[in-house]
Amino acid sequence: MKDPYPRNSRASTIAPEEIRMDRVRTGIDGLDQLLHGGFLRGDAILLAGAPGTGKTSIGMQYLYNGVTKYKEPGLFITFEEFPERIYRDADNYGWDFRALEEQGKLKVLLPLPRCSSKTSSAIRALSAR
Ligand SMILES: Nc1ncnc2c1ncn2[C@@H]1O[C@H](COP(=O)(O)OP(=O)(O)O)[C@@H](O)[C@H]1O
Ligand SMILES: [Mg+2]
Repeated sequence: MKDPYPRNSRASTIAPEEIRMDRVRTGIDGLDQLLHGGFLRGDAILLAGAPGTGKTSIGMQYLYNGVTKYKEPGLFITFEEFPERIYRDADNYGWDFRALEEQGKLKVLLPLPRCSSKTSSAIRALSAR
């Protein structure tokens, strides 16, 4: 049977009235069902919830499925957790993020905030850490 929600379809190749059907599968069965096939292509998704409710886990699973099931590249940008923790937690689910990075299919990034020279001098002057 033809896949009604091909992850790699492009909006430009389908009729305008079908654009709403252009979905990006998460590869998480229950979630894709709930989302009528996946996220709408091009949308920015904000996942909100209390700590420990699985936001990071869903993000990791989405990227893992994208790389392993749908041949899409994955970029994980973390602002609060060191990449080592992401690798460890992904490992816990059986997802080898380091291996995917070595294959050039995934990247985990921690953008470090830049210190202005004024801030750096103040820190040095105080011998603060
Ligand atoms: N392998 C696993 N199987 C089931 N639950 C897990 C596993 N690894 C972590 N968890 C649970 O997932 C939760 C953490 O989810 P997380 O995605 O970090 O939440 P959030 O990002 O919303 O704070 C914790 O309750 C933790 O115990
Ligand atoms: Mg989190």
